[in-house]
Amino acid sequence: MNPSKRRTVIAGNWKMNFTPAEATAFINEVKPLVAGKNNCDVIFCAPYVTIAAAQEAAKGSDIKIGAENVHFAEKGAYTGEVSAQMLTACGVEYVIIGHSERRQYFGETDETVNLRTKAALAAGMKVILCLGEVKDERLNGITNEVVSMQTKLDLKDVSAEQMKNVIIAYEPVWAIGTGLTATPEQAEETCGVIRDVLTSMYGAEVAEGVTIQYGGSMNEKNAAELLAKPNVDGGLIGGASLVAEKFKAIVDAAQ
Ligand code: PGA
Repeated sequence: MNPSKRRTVIAGNWKMNFTPAEATAFINEVKPLVAGKNNCDVIFCAPYVTIAAAQEAAKGSDIKIGAENVHFAEKGAYTGEVSAQMLTACGVEYVIIGHSERRQYFGETDETVNLRTKAALAAGMKVILCLGEVKDERLNGITNEVVSMQTKLDLKDVSAEQMKNVIIAYEPVWAIGTGLTATPEQAEETCGVIRDVLTSMYGAEVAEGVTIQYGGSMNEKNAAELLAKPNVDGGLIGGASLVAEKFKAIVDAAQ
């Protein structure tokens, strides 16, 4: 973290978990646990049908509720999709884009990630853009090339001004939901590579201001070490965001 330069952001990614009633109960449980922890922003990204209940439960707290995906068109014949205009009409400010599960199971490419990112930003949303290498890419020593390419393609035609509304989540795919975590050194190195690419695209001042999270089996035990690294500005948390005490411990580690 480097709080003098950029916000620390701890975001939960609930994935396909929690009914509205379960989300209400969870937010009510976690709300007092993270109250007053003002050194970081706290966000939970929820399934579309759960967002309203989570927002209602989060009222009166600093917790923000986001979505897990967004389509790039404003409206039209895209069965099953939801637009940025629909999300903002529901008071949703944050959205995850390009999560590896979307890329892996739902055919998401850097091109569609870029389209979704531009649409969300144009609608005034804040984007948590996910990228990261798969296991073979790390083993073959091409992690830096992969994340550099993703950063460039996913942010194509995104302006320096719009970068104020972009958070990048570096998520090595081999670490997601596997219990394997990148070492703090690996996380720092790769987040640093991403920041170097941002510097080449937008200049140092913009790049230094971008929050770059680490994601991939971040939990209550490893969060402090990861967050101690200067280029790791927060976490995108899957499994541990479903357990209030674990999530609280991660937020504590960011204080
Ligand atoms: P995990 O998920 O913390 O369960 O590994 C992280 C993510 O997918 O964002």
